[in-house]
Amino acid sequence: MPRIFDVVVIGGGPAGYIAAIRAAQLGLSSACVEQWKTPQGDYALGGTCLNVGCIPSKALLESSENFERVQHKFKVHGISATGVKLDLARMLERKEKIVGRMTAGIAGLFKKNKVTWLQGHGRFAGGGTTWKIDVKGEQGVESIEATNVVLATGSKARTLPGVPVDNDLICDNEGALSFTAVPARLGVIGAGVIGLELGSVWRRLGSKVSILEALPAFLGAADEAIADEAWKTFTAEQGLDIQLGVKIGAVQASKKGVSVDYTDEKGVARRFECDKLIVSVGRVPNTDDLGAETVGLKIDARGFIEVDKNCRAALPRVYAVGDVVRGPMLAHKGEDEGVMVAEIIAGQHGHVNYDAIPWVMYTAPEIAWVGKTERELKAAGVNYRAGRFPFAYNGRALGRDETEGFVKMLADAESDRILGVHVIGGQASELISEAVVAMEFGASSEDIARICHAHPSMSEVMKEAALAVDKRSLNS
Ligand code: FAD
Ligand code: NAI
Repeated sequence: MPRIFDVVVIGGGPAGYIAAIRAAQLGLSSACVEQWKTPQGDYALGGTCLNVGCIPSKALLESSENFERVQHKFKVHGISATGVKLDLARMLERKEKIVGRMTAGIAGLFKKNKVTWLQGHGRFAGGGTTWKIDVKGEQGVESIEATNVVLATGSKARTLPGVPVDNDLICDNEGALSFTAVPARLGVIGAGVIGLELGSVWRRLGSKVSILEALPAFLGAADEAIADEAWKTFTAEQGLDIQLGVKIGAVQASKKGVSVDYTDEKGVARRFECDKLIVSVGRVPNTDDLGAETVGLKIDARGFIEVDKNCRAALPRVYAVGDVVRGPMLAHKGEDEGVMVAEIIAGQHGHVNYDAIPWVMYTAPEIAWVGKTERELKAAGVNYRAGRFPFAYNGRALGRDETEGFVKMLADAESDRILGVHVIGGQASELISEAVVAMEFGASSEDIARICHAHPSMSEVMKEAALAVDKRSLNS
């Protein structure tokens, strides 16, 4: 007799493992199929995010920022350090330890919540009153049945034709998180989130970093004022060489490194040589060998599983969440969708507010935003007011020596309801939470302006930006 579960989740990344746990919390028998293996050959939960994404990249961002601080940023505090050395092996070991701790933590959470972890590759084998799923693991194939299926198979790095990723010389995110030596010349194709975050890591550790970006505009998804400020900081102050509007041609790896032929924004043919190349040109949904055709699961032209606003696929009792469906490819978006579908399966009213999903780039300074940009509001013909306040006037920012950047708040001109908040500066990843809460509760800029903010704290800049919407900042 096959094992039968109320809910089987395929994929144990942030979207899938959270769905499995929430389903179990709600009293449903819950299993999660996960095929990920560590380089040591052990099965692991956590998906891209924990193994080769959010968590290891943030560990390296912090370590490399410390290396930069001790060399260049402590002097202003009257602290000088000599003989500073980089122990890259130890830095990578720390990152791996954090990954191991986090992934083992999910295995522990599965035990605690009585979620069955099925190790191996899951695929649809057929339908009927229950869904049939084959799990191919090391012991062979186990056929199980599920009343409800949640597909959370995530995404993989997009590749470029003629640019073969070997994760040695030409790397995607996996290789780029594990260079065993700092490359003297690092090339990056794509000035998106990964290009800027990982480009920053290796620049701080000593690489000369050049980034080639196809689009003519920098950080097109961000508010223009934020993108302008980021451009100045990353290029002029930090020395990232970013070229926009390029067209990539032949890319060749050899014993000497990698050569990249491209045409620049003026159409001039150029060649660029580097020791390692990171290809970070976006990610694509992963539906490899999922048995979609066996059950008639609909996949759109871009490879995403088609779902409605509640993540229901076009098959009864089948849902899909996270990077494998439309919307931003962000861990917290997938987690919230995982909770939503588990609650819907349990007969509750799950819900995700796609208008209040924060974006964060963990560069230095950090960049974070929620809601609409000024450009989007103009395009939609919305009458708005904008308030902006710099970190340079904030006592805590001065104390922390993090005076770059600002908070910009956009509010409806008539109702004063907050429509978007954009931050570039220290702690932006934490500060943005206040704006998300405000937007979830439909707050006005006046609400933020009247809330007592601790002094001295970076959060006072949020309050001052809110006051600036009404042109009554108190500290400028
Ligand atoms: P994934 O995390 O990709 O997990 C899917 C899982 O499904 C994988 O473990 C895979 O092995 C498994 N799987 C797939 N098919 C099958 C199958 N048929 N059978 C069994 N198992 C299967 N997002 C943020 O919000 N913040 C960040 O700071 C951030 N940093 C990032 C840094 C990098 C370098 C990268 C690459 C991504 C980053 N992201 C970040 C994005 C984030 O990692 C993803 O949005 C998130 O992991 C998506 O979660 P998911 O569960 O949908 O998919
Ligand atoms: P991205 O979409 O952020 O950026 C890709 C960049 O590559 C774009 O600017 C695009 O114009 C450019 N590009 C595409 N094709 C190109 C070509 N042929 N030549 C030159 N440039 C080209 O994707 P990225 O950086 O790969 O990251 C993937 C996703 O992972 C992100 O979109 C995000 O969802 C997630 N992520 C989130 C992070 C966070 O939340 N802090 C950190 C890292 C990744």
